Amino acid sequence: MRAGATPIRELVEIDERRLLRRLDDLSQRGALEAGGIYRALYTPAWSSAMDLVAAWLKEAGILVRRYAVGNLWGRIEGSRGGRAIVTGSHIDTVRGGGALDGALGVVAGIEAVTSLWQTFGRPTRILECVAICEEEGSRFDTNFWGARAIADRLEPGEVDRARDAEGVTLAAAMRAAGLDPANAVNAARRDVDVFLELHIEQGPVLEEHGARLGVVSVVAGTAHLEVTVHGQPDHAGAMAMTRRRDALLGASAMTLAIADLALRMGQPAVATVGTIAVEPAQVNVVPDLVRFSVDARHTDAERRRELVTTIAEVCKTIGRERGLDVEVRTLRDRPPVALNARVADVLRRACAAAGVEALDVASGAGHDAQMLAAAAHTGMLFVPSIGGRSHCPEEATAAEDVVLGTRALATALRELAYTP
Ligand code: GLV
Ligand code: MN
Ligand code: MN
Repeated sequence: MRAGATPIRELVEIDERRLLRRLDDLSQRGALEAGGIYRALYTPAWSSAMDLVAAWLKEAGILVRRYAVGNLWGRIEGSRGGRAIVTGSHIDTVRGGGALDGALGVVAGIEAVTSLWQTFGRPTRILECVAICEEEGSRFDTNFWGARAIADRLEPGEVDRARDAEGVTLAAAMRAAGLDPANAVNAARRDVDVFLELHIEQGPVLEEHGARLGVVSVVAGTAHLEVTVHGQPDHAGAMAMTRRRDALLGASAMTLAIADLALRMGQPAVATVGTIAVEPAQVNVVPDLVRFSVDARHTDAERRRELVTTIAEVCKTIGRERGLDVEVRTLRDRPPVALNARVADVLRRACAAAGVEALDVASGAGHDAQMLAAAAHTGMLFVPSIGGRSHCPEEATAAEDVVLGTRALATALRELAYTP
């Protein structure tokens, strides 16, 4: 990547009405009656969203390719070729998610590339936008599927191992969506120079600082644990309270202790128990088995390790005190990732061209960018989340900030892809 340190004078214009209308249109794909959106990987809602994105690219005369794991690429050849300048984000959502997580980076990426193409014509560098097929881990017991595929970080046998709640394997779901699982490895790209991702912050920091744009320095590392607590089933009426080995009471004590550990470690340490299953789940039986998830994050690798280790120790200690057997299994363990300083500088200068001083921020949320950082010089731009809300139907960003972020993205892409 080459980038000068001179200020960027010209802010790239975009079609803000088209941008906002498309965000709205995309939010209808997978909209739930109860509120929020659910676009899970390889489902009809997901396919319909991908078709919409493909239609927008075709409308702009941009070459569309959808292959391997189903990532959808729009490509403009550069007059000088070389390694590509890419922008994008993920098309999938959590269950009951909002209209911007992932979708903003996809729609803004298309808008930025379309505006550049229509205003300035052929770039010198290859310029691409991508709708990444999956990031959230909301259907299969895996995540970052699309970005890991691009970064050549799929695990051997993953297509046959990863399953959804109904037991459908990734491979079977790919076939049902018209994709060949044997082709997954061909998603890898070794020719990406720069990857830029525009995303909503998903937390309250920008809003608290009154900042309209943020440039991300580091993405927090995440560990996902599965804790299984074994107790003893007994009669809910006849067994004395003092003689019980109640797995749910143990899991409840662990849940409180886990939150307390993160609280005492202090920001940016966070730990969340997000799922819990109880057996035999009967009103008159003392719970015998509980399985719950833990999501633990920190931006510092050492502190994150300490948090995860202490969580496991505390669960085991509580188990011992209550006569319960406890197993802690690590499902996923992703280290914090520092993003590229030179790309961050280009983004900061693009924000300045938009008249805004960007705040340097750390991302508590996980992003495709953290996987693509292994394959390309990677940077992220944040717009504020109203009330810090995300992963919920209320997720929103002021329209003028959506537009501002997209302009800054387009301006950074111009700086990178239209080098003389
Ligand atoms: C995805 O949004 C994550 O941070 O888990
Ligand atoms: Mn996201
Ligand atoms: Mn998300």
